[in-house]
Amino acid sequence: MDTAQAAEAVVGGDAGHLARLFAMSPDLLAAAGFDGLLKLFNDAWETQLGFSREELAVKPYLELVHPEDRDETRVQIGRLAQGETIAEYVCRLVRKDGTVVHMAWSGGPGDEAFYIVGRDVTDRLAMEHELEQRAERLLTTNGELQDFAYTASHDLSEPLRMVASFLGLLERRSGGALDERSREYLRQASDGAVRMRALIDDLLQYSRVANEEPRREQVDLRGLVDGVLAFLAPAIQEQGAVVTVEDLPTLEAEPTQLAQLLQNLIGNAVKFHPPEQVPHVRVSARRTIGGCVVTVSDDGIGIPIADQERIFAMFTRLHGRDEYAGTGIGLAICRRIAERHGGRIYVESDGEGQGSAFHTLLPDTPTAPGTPRGDAR
Ligand SMILES: Nc1ncnc2c1ncn2[C@@H]1O[C@H](COP(=O)(O)OP(=O)(O)O)[C@@H](O)[C@H]1O
Ligand SMILES: [Mg+2]
Repeated sequence: MDTAQAAEAVVGGDAGHLARLFAMSPDLLAAAGFDGLLKLFNDAWETQLGFSREELAVKPYLELVHPEDRDETRVQIGRLAQGETIAEYVCRLVRKDGTVVHMAWSGGPGDEAFYIVGRDVTDRLAMEHELEQRAERLLTTNGELQDFAYTASHDLSEPLRMVASFLGLLERRSGGALDERSREYLRQASDGAVRMRALIDDLLQYSRVANEEPRREQVDLRGLVDGVLAFLAPAIQEQGAVVTVEDLPTLEAEPTQLAQLLQNLIGNAVKFHPPEQVPHVRVSARRTIGGCVVTVSDDGIGIPIADQERIFAMFTRLHGRDEYAGTGIGLAICRRIAERHGGRIYVESDGEGQGSAFHTLLPDTPTAPGTPRGDAR
């Protein structure tokens, strides 16, 4: 029993149903002879191509195909003649008015003829093309921006070094001869240079994270945290902070980047507390399905709900420099690092004075990093 008979059986032997379905299809359906003519074709051919039924009946179908696509179309018809089926073969047809339509064909062999179904994919192809071009443009712009950030911060380092060292020389050579106000000017200039150094270092770190694909390896989180705490020891001592580290697992990450992330989170936890209060900081981690959540929590000044998303944006700081020092780049680096690992970072805090908990979610198996989030958010 062939398909037509089977269909006839299903619809109760009424070929009229089949004929109606055939006529209604928006796709081009046909039985095409190996003699080059269409034997049976539906109305879509007329509406799509603008030729009348009579014209289509006597017109060799290869003449409907765009001249540049005819050779390949002959090859495909040859395959059908060999008894093969074809799928998603795309060629252009030329309408009566000369315009072109891209059709994707499926075809199967028959005895005297072959059966074909063609779908108009002109819009889809145009859209795909547009998307590809946009993605390419984005990649280029992104790359250029990252190169720019790197070069700019790198090239700013050298003149800054000069400014700072000559300020130092001036201070040493003539500091004693200057009056109080001039010494204050000199001190402010040096402070500015130190702050700019911090900004440039942070910007360089940020652009490095952006430019380099993380090379994941098994990391002993405990060892990594100990290293970070040793690095932060002066700040921890200065603030008299109490840092508790819970049992920590091994996880998959790029060790340098993960250390940068923890250094900033623990550094923040030690930093953002009321002046008279001893900060308590806790570092913990727990395994979840398919990954690990690393948490750094504190009992410091907390973060208002309204600011909990925007603190991750570049340069966002909730306090003046006279209250807490910083560049406002640290959390932007953390977010980048989490996203480069296919993970994410977020903060929980009940608001001002309630302490904060920063959670970093790191999946075990690398998933494609999402589109980098705009830093304006
Ligand atoms: N543990 C924390 N407790 C309270 N506020 C925080 C904490 N961590 C970060 N913040 C807020 O988020 C801002 C951005 O943090 P970050 O990007 O690390 O910049 P920086 O530390 O240089 O100020 C901080 O200036 C602060 O307002
Ligand atoms: Mg910080």
